[in-house]
Amino acid sequence: MSTPAAHAVAVRTRGIDMFFGDGETKVTALKQADFEANRGELIMLVGPSGCGKTTLLSVIAGTLTPQTGTVEVFGQRLDGLSQEELTTFRRKHLGFVFQSFNLIPTLTVLENVMVPLLIQGTAQAVAVAKARAMLEKVGLKGREEGRPNALSGGQQQRVAIARALVHEPSLLICDEPTSALDKDTGAQIMQMVRDLSRSPERCVVVVTHDHRIFRFADRIAEMEDGRIRRVVEDASLLDTNHL
Ligand SMILES: Nc1ncnc2c1ncn2[C@@H]1O[C@H](COP(=O)(O)OP(=O)(O)OP(=O)(O)O)[C@@H](O)[C@H]1O
Ligand SMILES: [Mg+2]
Repeated sequence: MSTPAAHAVAVRTRGIDMFFGDGETKVTALKQADFEANRGELIMLVGPSGCGKTTLLSVIAGTLTPQTGTVEVFGQRLDGLSQEELTTFRRKHLGFVFQSFNLIPTLTVLENVMVPLLIQGTAQAVAVAKARAMLEKVGLKGREEGRPNALSGGQQQRVAIARALVHEPSLLICDEPTSALDKDTGAQIMQMVRDLSRSPERCVVVVTHDHRIFRFADRIAEMEDGRIRRVVEDASLLDTNHL
C-alpha cells in the first residue's frame, strides 16, 4: 500500500543476506541488513572495518546481487531486473565514488570524468565542457590532460568524485570519499556532495570513518556485523571509539 512515508524513501533494502564463498571459506558480509535512505537526504554509513559497508553499497548500486532480500531504488526493485536493465539503470541514475578510486589509467583525467556523460550519449563538446567545469570545482584545473597515476592520492580521489558527480546522478554513493583529503578540501567536497543531495529527486549515501565530516550528514546509520544497528540524527550520539 502506498503511504506518504513510502514516497519519501529513495533507497530501501529489506532482509539482505550476502555471503562470499562456501564451506570453510564462507564469509557472511551482510545478515538481514535493513537500510533506508530518504529523498533529499545525505545519509552516512559508519562502522568498523569489515562490518559490511562496501558490500551494502554494492548491493544498493546493483553491482552485487544478494542471496536473500530486496533492494528498491527510487521505487524500482533491482532484484527483478536483468543484467542489461541494471546496467541501463546504473548509467542513468547512479554515481559511485569507489574506495579504491577505480580510475582508468589509460585515459586522461578529463577523459575519465567524461565517461559517465559519453555512455549516456552526451555530445562530445558538451561532455568536455561539463567535465572541465567539474574538475575546476574539485580544484584540479590545469591537470585535465595528465594521466591519473601522475596525480597524488588526494587528487585522484577528487577525479573520482568529479566523475561521480558530473552527470548529476539521482543516487550518489561515496565509499570513503575524503579518506585521502585534508580537512579543508574534504569539507569543500562534502559541501558539494551535500548541495547535490538537496532535492527530492536525489539521495546521497556516504560511507566514512572520517568524523570531521559527520556534520554534513542528515542522519548516520551505524553498522555492526553485517547489519544496521541503529540510525542517529546527531553524530554526538555515536560511540566513535570503534569507528
Ligand atoms: N569479494 C569478496 N570475496 C570474499 N569476501 C569478501 C568480498 N568482499 C567482501 N568480503 C568480506 O565481507 C566482509 C565485509 O567486507 P566490506 O568490504 O563490506 O567491509 P567494510 O565495512 O567496507 O570494511 P572497510 O571499512 O575496511 O572498507 C569482510 O569480512 C570481507 O572480507
Ligand atoms: Mg569498505
